[in-house]
Amino acid sequence: MTVVDLSEHAEEFNADPYAEYAKLRAAGPAHQVRTPTGDEVWLIVGHEAARAALADPRLAKDWRPPLAETGYEELPASSNMLETDPPQHTRLRKLVAREFTPRRIEALRPRVQEITDGLLDTMLAAPGRAADLVDSLAFPLPMTVISELIGVPDLDREAFRVLSNQAVAPRDGDEGPEAVGRIGVYLAELIEDKRRSGPADDLLGALIRTRHEDGDQLSQDELIGMAFLLLVAGHETTVNLISNGVRALLSHPDQLAALRGDFGGLIDGAVEEMLRYDGPVETSTYRFAREDVRIGDALIPAGAVVLVALASAGRDPERHQEPDRFDIRRAPQGHLAFGHGIHFCLGAPLARMEGRIAVRTLLERAPDLQLDVRTDELQWLPGMLIRGVRHLPVRW
Ligand code: HEM
Repeated sequence: MTVVDLSEHAEEFNADPYAEYAKLRAAGPAHQVRTPTGDEVWLIVGHEAARAALADPRLAKDWRPPLAETGYEELPASSNMLETDPPQHTRLRKLVAREFTPRRIEALRPRVQEITDGLLDTMLAAPGRAADLVDSLAFPLPMTVISELIGVPDLDREAFRVLSNQAVAPRDGDEGPEAVGRIGVYLAELIEDKRRSGPADDLLGALIRTRHEDGDQLSQDELIGMAFLLLVAGHETTVNLISNGVRALLSHPDQLAALRGDFGGLIDGAVEEMLRYDGPVETSTYRFAREDVRIGDALIPAGAVVLVALASAGRDPERHQEPDRFDIRRAPQGHLAFGHGIHFCLGAPLARMEGRIAVRTLLERAPDLQLDVRTDELQWLPGMLIRGVRHLPVRW
């Protein structure tokens, strides 16, 4: 089978991967590709195939067995839900699942609104009535929420931003693991500080107590891994839900006008459409074939690395009518933007709430909001994991 080289036109592919995904989908559900950053992986495209692959236990998350021979270095932060399989995954997820139920998340609503209001007070007072939406709202809102929830001090957030960005959208092969390693060191120190200063009323405090009370339940590495995953997943995803979503709305004036006419009735559907049409997580995280796996005509060999193209599932015409049309009133068909199966996004209720509050409040407070950048000037994040732009200039 030929390898499809997505690295050849990496910049164009990052700016708009949807035509390439449509071509691949028409040719079958599984393809060998070279990613924009040069890795050779199997890519699964189309809604049904993607859904099946995400729930297929033969495609495992634990990379240690397949990569043991390659000298790939184990980092403390890798002991997390997205790099483990049952039973370890089940145990880790159970420890935090109760913190992320829709009911628990609903209790955070007033604080999420308050943070949004404060950020918009500052943004809308900017001289020249123009700002970067990423720096002013899309990034600091989810970052502040997840940092408060977990218990990361204010002071460290800017430094953390740089590292977490490098971890999920590295520019080369070394940058990612280096950033993950440095975050691990930082979190080990933070955990030590928290342990010394006694019980804290935050998630990390609660997890430290779990470790103390239940000795072998949560190892030091698992504690670091949990904090790492929650912080990075909470930092790097919702920012692009807000910025990709606002970009879609501002470039579809009819949809924007409809939403402005009925926030109460349409905001929930609008956020689901943002997730389907241009969601923040373009492909799943890595999976590894435990055995030979046949998908369509392709035989994925044991040990191969597999990525599931969630973005291609959202534009599959077999699932969504006129998939390339952005329509906030479309009947919900279910999308895969939060994944599927046992690794389904733990933070989905939080991300949805943040997205709804941010977009609605922004549009209410800036009635004439417009993009202040041409499409060809946007800088896209490298790689295939996260889909989004570094900056989104707007004016009002
Ligand atoms: C719009 C925002 C978000 C999107 C689109 C998103 C998407 C996803 C996806 C696709 C997965 C599954 C990845 C895979 O199977 O390879 C996932 C897993 C996960 N997400 Fe999110 N996420 C978002 C926000 C958040 C937030 C705010 C948190 C923070 C609490 C979070 C925490 C997690 C965790 C912990 C997992 C791993 C769950 C497991 O392995 O059992 N996510 N997310």
